[in-house]
Amino acid sequence: MKIFVTGGAGFIGSNFIFYMLDKYDDCKIVCIDKLTYAGNLSTLSPVSENENFRFVRADICDREAMYSLFESEKPDVVINFAAETHVDRSIDSPDIFLKTNILGTAVLMDACIKYGTKRFHQVSTDEVYGDLPLDRPDLLFTEKTPLCTSSPYSGSKASADLLALAYFRTYGLPVSISRCSNNYGPYQFPEKLIPLMIANALNDKPLPVYGEGKNVRDWLYVEDHCRAVDLIIRKGRVGEVYNIGGHNEMKNIDIVRLICKELGKGEELITFVSDRKGHDLRYAIDPTKIHTELGWLPETMFKDGIRKTIKWYLENKNWWETIISGEYRSYYEKMYGDREVIK
Ligand code: NAD
Ligand code: DAU
Repeated sequence: MKIFVTGGAGFIGSNFIFYMLDKYDDCKIVCIDKLTYAGNLSTLSPVSENENFRFVRADICDREAMYSLFESEKPDVVINFAAETHVDRSIDSPDIFLKTNILGTAVLMDACIKYGTKRFHQVSTDEVYGDLPLDRPDLLFTEKTPLCTSSPYSGSKASADLLALAYFRTYGLPVSISRCSNNYGPYQFPEKLIPLMIANALNDKPLPVYGEGKNVRDWLYVEDHCRAVDLIIRKGRVGEVYNIGGHNEMKNIDIVRLICKELGKGEELITFVSDRKGHDLRYAIDPTKIHTELGWLPETMFKDGIRKTIKWYLENKNWWETIISGEYRSYYEKMYGDREVIK
């Protein structure tokens, strides 16, 4: 099987490539990545010599480049991880989110139709469902929950999901969609909550918690997500959406406190800052469908996954220190420099 993995130089895409090349001897992977600020070729160095792996630097919005790649490589399956992914950046500059996340997805699906690709899998997010109230733990997102987005990021991801379902119905393109909750693990870009807090704590810098830190996310170890996507492309039904999540809801402040504890840092580093605009309160996935249909269950408990993750960031300082010493510094200044400290 030959798989195109778009966005494979990013966090989840790279973990997916490692997972697949490790698990299957007969799986060929072509990684297509534009190498935006979030993509990092050094992340893929563990597989750069693998004969089943090829890297191509290209933009999924570039129709000509995509068609020529599809024509020469003839993939069996396309898995679209490529996206602009950071909510805060989408609030600041939505344009690139609309371009990559919506138009890029359409270009890939057009290419799949033109070259007869047998499966297009869209990696989506639980954020397309909007949020849930904090005081209703009985409510969870199911695949039938209406789309109701809050940020330009989630709006763009929901648009791509709707387009994918439209391509299934109108053109018969064999699509599937997965909507996963928050991932954590190795190689996550340090703009996201967990790696940002680890890096700042290690550098004894303030830990900027938005609002009161009461917002809830449903955390899943990245390898469990990768295993779910593999199952869906092999055994999942086309035209279907699968939620992925492991019933692991946590308040942001509890995660930050846990990181301080694991790193032996004092909680005085925690700084409450002005909230994210439109900040979603709570995400919580009901994974019943993927469990009953495909037998998927998460394998990594949060207490183990967070320790493995912290250990990885301690052992791979070079990876994230290179990132945070580059253009990330101006991003950080813009995002946090003028932010009001509220407590
Ligand atoms: P990431 O930001 O770490 O990586 C995104 C990758 O896409 C980068 O390598 C970047 O260079 C590449 N890319 C961006 N624009 C591109 C373009 N136009 N053409 C080609 N490549 C491009 O993202 P991530 O956290 O690994 O997320 C991967 C996917 O999973 C995204 O679609 C995201 O919406 C989805 N998702 C993420 C999470 C999460 O918690 N991180 C949860 C659920 C779903
Ligand atoms: O739910 C899946 C989504 O999870 C993915 O689709 C997105 O691509 C991914 O970025 C993530 O979105 P979130 O907005 O939930 O993740 P983030 O790490 O940015 O923030 C997690 C929570 O932590 C959120 O409530 C905001 C808060 N936060 C975040 C940062 C970066 C802080 O309090 N302080 C921070 O500095």
